[in-house]
This record gives sequence, structure tokens and C-alpha cells, in this order.
Amino acid sequence: MKRRHSSSDRDFNAETLALGLGYDPVRSEGSVKPPVFLTSTFQFASADEGRRFFELAYGLRTADQGELPGLIYSRLNNPNLQIFEERMAAWDRTDKGLSFASGMAAISTTMLALLRPGDRILSTAPIYGGTHYLFESILPPLGITCSQVMAGTDAATRLREAAAMASPGSVAMLYLETPANPSNVLTDIAEVVALAAELEAQTGRRPVVAVDNTFLGPVFQRPAAQGADLVIYSATKFIGGHSDLIAGVVTGPQALMDSISVYRTILGTMPNPFTGWMLLRSLETLSIRMRRQAKNARKLAELLAAHPRVSRVYYPGNLVEGDPQHSIFVRQCSGPGSLIAFEVKGGREAAYTVLDRFEVFRLAVSLGGTESLIEHPATMTHSDVPGDVLDGYGVTPGLIRMSVGLEHLSDLRRDLDNALSF
Ligand SMILES: Cc1ncc(COP(=O)(O)O)c(C=O)c1O
Repeated sequence: MKRRHSSSDRDFNAETLALGLGYDPVRSEGSVKPPVFLTSTFQFASADEGRRFFELAYGLRTADQGELPGLIYSRLNNPNLQIFEERMAAWDRTDKGLSFASGMAAISTTMLALLRPGDRILSTAPIYGGTHYLFESILPPLGITCSQVMAGTDAATRLREAAAMASPGSVAMLYLETPANPSNVLTDIAEVVALAAELEAQTGRRPVVAVDNTFLGPVFQRPAAQGADLVIYSATKFIGGHSDLIAGVVTGPQALMDSISVYRTILGTMPNPFTGWMLLRSLETLSIRMRRQAKNARKLAELLAAHPRVSRVYYPGNLVEGDPQHSIFVRQCSGPGSLIAFEVKGGREAAYTVLDRFEVFRLAVSLGGTESLIEHPATMTHSDVPGDVLDGYGVTPGLIRMSVGLEHLSDLRRDLDNALSF
């Protein structure tokens, strides 16, 4: 593989880098596209080369000037994953990317790598149900606890209050999901980064700021530009983009990523080479897909906002000037994305009636694929979270989450109109 990663690469836009960075056709018989490297292991040119590769991979020595890690074994790395990871780091303008077998593998490997007994996570809520379960049920028996505060305009203030209640120096991570799944509520990343600096000044320990960027990133939101340390994705969603794979990504600065990389190697939470190859293919069209999906979503969100059966629409594109959420949107997002949550009048019964009437939108969880999907967060993706807690976050029984795809807008519009007409 051609391992170009010089500062001049960063002069190109991510859309361009997604088609070339990290791959040299000369090394693969001139193949314009990277082949699938379906191999578990890699042959060394000599015993001495094998020794040197291992020394570097296991941190027994530092890299020589310009030396890049050699390929050893596909649990450590593989060209398909490396090329994809390099391109993701370029999208997020961070040092390094790591791919994972799922979004949950990315999140849990990160937590196990960076947190220790006695540490506390302060997180916004609502968050994806699987992340909620990890924080509330899997990490606490390991001595890692979590406090959740409501996402939104004053989230940094609420996180500050939660930090004041925690034992000094115990806050190890500030974890944000913005926009929040499923409510689309925005939290100001830069304010939370400022809080991390404040906590460092007070306690001598700077918590890691991690942002789940699945809903908008990397096309419409780059948390690293706001000062976040780690950017996390379920690549199953927009990055994969075709609802045909499960994967995750974390990007961030070298030192943090090196720690996470060791845990990925030992836990074996990497994706397989074919998934890496599919991710590479998908990354080439990410920008065009996300922008087109958002264009469709804007129109549907307008329709929903005007519909008599709908009591509330949560969509960043519908925010109006004067709303503090709009200020956050303008500061940190370059587009509204294609996830819409809306509340149907009449609670769960009415929501179920609407869900069952769609024909083009498919009734399925997940999001970010080329096809449009709808689901009922309270009884599906977020059913792990107690109902009263969800209600407090605005995830009411009447709430429907919609992921808008690439179908023709007129068909989507007609389908939505039909679903709401009963
Ligand atoms: C915001 C968000 N983060 C993380 C995940 C977990 O990702 P995966 O299903 O790829 O493990 C999801 C899944 O829906 C999600 O929506």
C-alpha cells in the first residue's frame, strides 16, 4: 500500500481523498480499486522484518523516521481497514482512525481502553439504547459509573452540575450524542470542550470528550474542529450507507487512538476485510448520498410540520432563528441530515396505525441507508430505557423516527401523506 499521509494530503478535500488516499495501484497489479485482502496473515520478507514489525506493533520500539507499521495479521490490521481508517481520519481531520466490527464494538472498546474502576462518565441523554445499556448495566459492575443529563442547549451547565456532585478527579469522560438519537436535540460541543478544560484546571484531570457523530458526520458535522477528542460512529448507518453491513469507527489523536488500538487487537473487535472493502466503496459516495438524503428530508420535515395529525417535529432543518438550538446548529453543523423525529397526536395507538400504513418507507430499525426507514423508538431501539425516563427526554409513545433515503421525493411525499391520512 502506498502510505501517503503527508500534510499536503490535507490540502485536498475529503471527497477527493476518499477516492485515492492510502492506496497505490502499483502495489496491486495496477488495479484502480483496492482488491479485497481476504487473508488472515501476511508473509514477511525475512525473519528480521517480522521481528521489526512485531517490535513496532507491540510498542517495544518507536518508529524510525517515516516508518509505517508493517502488516502482520488481520486482527492487528489489514490493508482494506487501513485505507478506510486513513480516509476516515481525513474526513474528520484527526490523526488516526480505527474501524470496528460494529458501532457498539467501537464504543465499548473505547470505554474499556480509556476507563478504569472509580472513573465516571458524564453523558447526555437520550442516547442510543445499546450505549445506554453499556453505561447503565455493563460498565457499573466493572466500577465505571455514569450520570446522564438531558441533552440540549443547557447540557454543558447540567454536565457541570453533575461533575460537581462526582468525587474530585473521577470524571474521565464527557460523552455526547449530538444530534441525540432519537430526539435530534443538539448539544454544543465547544461548550462541553470548555467544561473539560475547566475540570482539568480544578482537578488536574482532563476528561476525554467523545462525540457520537453517527447522525450528521462526517459530512455535516466535524466534532474535532470544535475541540472534541474522539469522534465515534456506527458505520452501519450513513458511512456504510446501504444497510448491508455492520461496522463502527473511532477517530482521534494519536496517543488516545494508540491505547484504543491495543484493546481492539486483544479484544478482537475489528471488522473483517470484506467489510473494510465495502466501507471503502461506500465512503466514495458518502457526501453525495448524505446531501441528497438531506434534501429529501427537508421537504418531508416541512410537510410534517404543517400536518394536523402531527403535534411536534424534531429536525435541525426546521429550527428558526432566535431558538438557542438554531444557534448551536449554525455554529457546529453544515447541514440538517436526514433523520426526522415526529410526534403523532393520539399516542402509541395512533403511532402504530401510522407505522403500519407506510408502503415505501420500510418499518425497520437502523438508519442512514439508501432506503427510507421508520420505527417506533419507545418500543424498539430505545426499549431498554424505562418509559418514564424516555418520556422525560421527549421520547413519548407517539414519537416516530424516520430515516429518509434516496427514493424519488414525490413517492416519499405521497407515502407519508397516505400514512397520516386515516
Ligand atoms: C447513534 C448510534 N450510535 C451507536 C449505535 C450502535 O451501532 P451498531 O448498531 O453499528 O453497533 C447506533 C445504532 O443504531 C446508533 O444509532
